[in-house]
Amino acid sequence: MSTATSPESKTSNDPLRLIDVDYVQFYVGNAKQSAYFYAQAFGFEIEQVSDLTTGVRESATYLLTQGNIRFLLTTGLTSDHEAQQEIQLYGDGIKDIAFTVDDSVAAYEQALKNGAESAYEPIECSDELGTVVRSAIKSFGRVRHTFISRTGKYSLDNVKNRGQQFLPDFKVLDDLAINQYNRDNPTGLFYVDHCVGNVQMGKMDHWVGWYEEVLGFKLFKHFDDKDISTEYSALMSKVMDSGRELIKIPINEPAKGKFKSQIEEYLDWHNGTPGIQHLALLTKDEINTVGQLRRRGVDFLRIPDAYYDSVWDRVGEIKEDTELVKDLRLLVDRDDKGYLLQIFTKPLQDRPTLFFEIICRRGSESFGKGNFKALFESLEIEQRNRGNL
Ligand code: FE2
Repeated sequence: MSTATSPESKTSNDPLRLIDVDYVQFYVGNAKQSAYFYAQAFGFEIEQVSDLTTGVRESATYLLTQGNIRFLLTTGLTSDHEAQQEIQLYGDGIKDIAFTVDDSVAAYEQALKNGAESAYEPIECSDELGTVVRSAIKSFGRVRHTFISRTGKYSLDNVKNRGQQFLPDFKVLDDLAINQYNRDNPTGLFYVDHCVGNVQMGKMDHWVGWYEEVLGFKLFKHFDDKDISTEYSALMSKVMDSGRELIKIPINEPAKGKFKSQIEEYLDWHNGTPGIQHLALLTKDEINTVGQLRRRGVDFLRIPDAYYDSVWDRVGEIKEDTELVKDLRLLVDRDDKGYLLQIFTKPLQDRPTLFFEIICRRGSESFGKGNFKALFESLEIEQRNRGNL
């Protein structure tokens, strides 16, 4: 790896040292209404906005925050805005996983040298608070990764404090009643544990290689169709790891089964284009978090009673109350390092595309391999209900 090109970048010799997940950007049909959905259902604070009232004429974007999770929800206000065009093709979904870096220009140039294709060239925005530089590369399908570097009051450490302006053209909203409710009734989501992409059959290894070559990720785990298959449908998955405990990006492709793979269903309803299938949001207290989310009306995949007949033999003792685990329909799995609890929402929009996982790790570094069968049988019931199996 060559050294950083900017003299300001003294903290690292690697221009692609990813410091944090700066934000996850969604393109949605109506950002104002989506903001209320994610706030009400998942406990996010609606903190800031960039729209006509801040001088932005072509789009409206809301900043939602919780723990170290930052969502940008963007809708286009003009028919030629990229968000409007993509919503026609894909419906609501995730466009961008943005990484904070020391120097956006150096990161972008290094990524292009490593073989990436540009999504947009560096754009610098400065005002009295500081400077933000953004650039982006194209990843699988409609997904891109923005590299963002921040100075002055726009540093990530500063904007993590409530009330500090996130980006130029944003303003802090007057505190909304929903925010006070969420502070009084926290759902306890902390950060994005992993972010899963769906690609076409035969393309998984291509994108695994891309993450290795372009961003320096390492292969963390590999699941083949024997691990992830039911009687009817199958998929394969390789988990890419950014290192430094920042983020893992599993990449799925469909495998041949008796019926349609859930990955094919996703692609069918995503204009045949790869994209983000799910975000896993980490909590330190699965019981409290999922209890809160259920009271708020979040719709989760239904796990049958039979799952709980055998799970404790497989997993052994856990510190949570096993009756509560069953009542909340949580999935449990163990690997050699510990156990995890997890649960999956139904799709978050009308299309069977993006969903969330709520995960709590008690030592386990895995992804719930022991739950794949129960999970996919449950998913197939949903797929059948949608007429897509
Ligand atoms: Fe997951």
